[in-house]
Amino acid sequence: MRTLRLMRRLVHRPRRLRRSPALRNLVRETQLSVHDFILPLFVSEKLDHRRPIASMPGVFQLSVKEIADEARAAQDLGVQAVLLFGIPEQKDEQASGAYAESGVIQKALRAMKSKCPELVAITDVCLCEYMSHGHCGVTRIDGDHFHVLNDETVELLVKTSLSHAAAGADMVAPSDMMDGRIGAIREALDSAGFDQTGIISYAAKFASSFYGPFREAAESPPRFGDRRSYQMDIANASEALREVALDIDEGADIVMVKPALPYLDILWRVHERFGKPTAVYHVSGEYAMVKSAVEKRLLEERAAVLEIMTALKRAGANIIITYWARELAKWLQE
Ligand code: PBG
Repeated sequence: MRTLRLMRRLVHRPRRLRRSPALRNLVRETQLSVHDFILPLFVSEKLDHRRPIASMPGVFQLSVKEIADEARAAQDLGVQAVLLFGIPEQKDEQASGAYAESGVIQKALRAMKSKCPELVAITDVCLCEYMSHGHCGVTRIDGDHFHVLNDETVELLVKTSLSHAAAGADMVAPSDMMDGRIGAIREALDSAGFDQTGIISYAAKFASSFYGPFREAAESPPRFGDRRSYQMDIANASEALREVALDIDEGADIVMVKPALPYLDILWRVHERFGKPTAVYHVSGEYAMVKSAVEKRLLEERAAVLEIMTALKRAGANIIITYWARELAKWLQE
């Protein structure tokens, strides 16, 4: 009886603030906005018409002539930024398609910039889609071993970034994880007069199993070996912070953690420690996982996706790269 009476005199009743939708809105700590999202788009030089990507329902490879309309349609929904990935007609051992004047990304950028100049055009800077062996850099094979050569690769990444900037990229996003590439790219952009072209660095990119579907989308699976000699060990957090510190020091404007949900602790620490604009990439495998659960009616798509995006923002993301950017733009307006 006595305890019951005490209970009635409780001072702290957090549930008071959960009683109605309006009260819950009033005290909501994390608000999603359409401005948080970047939409990845795949553009292929080999296509005349869009082609669905089997492992990523709702995602397509687009032709060069479709890309500007697609970007425009996303912008009309409220999406402010896109991240472009290119699939070239031909691959070689020097990734020459990556920095060709009329390469797939360069053509796509020019088309987009004439149709929707305000849309922020970010380009993936990596060589894997352009290399015949599918690795992110220049490779040397010694017997059974292969090495990705750091400095030779950085040179090509610099050339690629310069050609993207010349074709109209607002920001370049190097996703290769070579050492020193941010500083080299920054310096080259500045000396070529592209001091206003920004850099989003994939600063803490882990050697994750969640990139599988992307490699189908970008036609970039490595022909031999894996990416563990350049991407980060999934077990390392302090090393991730060191990588981020280096990239900031070399001139990164925005730092990224990738993948997203399995690395929330890293995201939190990066944002807390450095206070830089922090991006997170919710990757293809994370997308495919939810999509297949939705197809099996195990999850409700909209609620699940909003919960994931809220978690990423709550954990410190200022920017979220997601294949759901368009749907999110619609859902957040309703
Ligand atoms: C490499 C790159 C990858 C992704 C973005 N850039 C794949 C990889 O490192 O193997 C993955 C994105 C995703 O899975 O959605 N250029």
